[in-house]
Amino acid sequence: MTLSRTFQRIAPIVAALLALSCVSGARFSPGSSGVGDPLYPGLGNGGYEVSHYTVSLDVDVDRNFISGSTGIQANAKKGLSSFNLDLRGLTITAISVNGLPATYTRDGNELTIVPSRPVPARASFQVDVAYEGQPSPDHVPSFGFPVGWIKYRTGIYAAGEPWGSSTWYPVNEHPSDKASYTLVLTVPEPYEVAGIGELTGVIDNGDSTTYTWEARDELASYLVGVAISRFDEIVVEGPQGVPILNMIQETIEEPVERHLENTSKMVGFFNDTFGPYPFESFGSIILDAPFAALETQTRPIYGFDILRLAGERVVAHELAHQWFGNLVTPATWEDMWLNEGFATYAEWLWLDYKSPNDEFAAFWENTWRPDYGPPGKPSPEAPFGQTVYQRGAMTLHALRTDIGDDAFFRTLREYVLRHAGGNVSTSDFVAVAEEVSGKNLDGLFRAWLYDDVTPSAPE
Ligand code: ARG
Ligand code: ZN
Repeated sequence: MTLSRTFQRIAPIVAALLALSCVSGARFSPGSSGVGDPLYPGLGNGGYEVSHYTVSLDVDVDRNFISGSTGIQANAKKGLSSFNLDLRGLTITAISVNGLPATYTRDGNELTIVPSRPVPARASFQVDVAYEGQPSPDHVPSFGFPVGWIKYRTGIYAAGEPWGSSTWYPVNEHPSDKASYTLVLTVPEPYEVAGIGELTGVIDNGDSTTYTWEARDELASYLVGVAISRFDEIVVEGPQGVPILNMIQETIEEPVERHLENTSKMVGFFNDTFGPYPFESFGSIILDAPFAALETQTRPIYGFDILRLAGERVVAHELAHQWFGNLVTPATWEDMWLNEGFATYAEWLWLDYKSPNDEFAAFWENTWRPDYGPPGKPSPEAPFGQTVYQRGAMTLHALRTDIGDDAFFRTLREYVLRHAGGNVSTSDFVAVAEEVSGKNLDGLFRAWLYDDVTPSAPE
């Protein structure tokens, strides 16, 4: 009785305080400057999600100088008094939010934007950043080659993984925020632009050409890729009408096309094994550059040395990433065995399919080592080390041996189907495997993914 009387008396005060707290800022607060990735906590930003990027740049290839703008369509997850983007280097000349000039500060790779009117929760908003400069690539331990926008002897390429996209456009640079893209690059004669998705425009401006590449299927920023050089183009009709567009740099004299001969068959084999190829098109970009390979969405990029060394095996690897990594994307970098282990296992599957001859025993023997370290917990000093690739692939083979071929391949297809277009963590994969097989797989995954010493070969 007394309690409810007391409440009646203080209710108006509580209501007034609540109202006040909204006006005084609880409705709008800064978006965070990182998403808290366990391997790389500073990457990405919180408080909003991007739906589309339009990157429009003039490229002076000889000076390696870019100028232009990036338009970002985003949705606020809460009321934003300010928010961050990731951008490495370059000089900003103007920023607007919803068409109104905004102020900004920069601190390392963090760009903090203060809109002149705060962005309400759940509103969609448009950010335009105008900028210019000479991009500088970054270095990632164990990655093997510099990341980002890179000038080489006969051209320029940009490859995203893991944080190279912020070297040439402002971005929410974390795999948990996928978006579609329009890339509009103007390059001087006689250069051409290879990109991801579909080439929807080529405009001849006299002494320069503007290329528009549209990637309509959403992708993580680490899967953005472009290359500027001159290319021979080869178009092949793939299975189920998937067009395959290969772009091979003109200066390459070796017959690298032979490594692409089986691309269409590979798409067919993976269609049957993982589910239908998930994007509008596929193909390869092959560069006369010191670069390994990256599974840029729809059109992986290769340095031709890797094709010479690894042959079509690396094509199978990057193709398999279109399902594992690109369509179904790890929510954090710690789970990247879900990319590399699966793509490496897909190489084994392809080679075994091509010449079924007890290949798996041989793969196993050549690959097993006690000291890879746990693939489910890659070290920040060697995130792209062998463990996520090799022991990751062995984890899948151990699973297959345990639950049998039928449950194993149904697990792969169900995992792809259930999480298509989304983000996943290891527990999502384990859940599907347990559901499909009807077995408790805790022990198997714990040993294979998290024990220090590699388990021995399954019986
Ligand atoms: N996702 C790329 C691939 O495996 C990464 C390459 C990273 N480099 C390396 N040496 N592991 O195709
Ligand atoms: Zn890979």
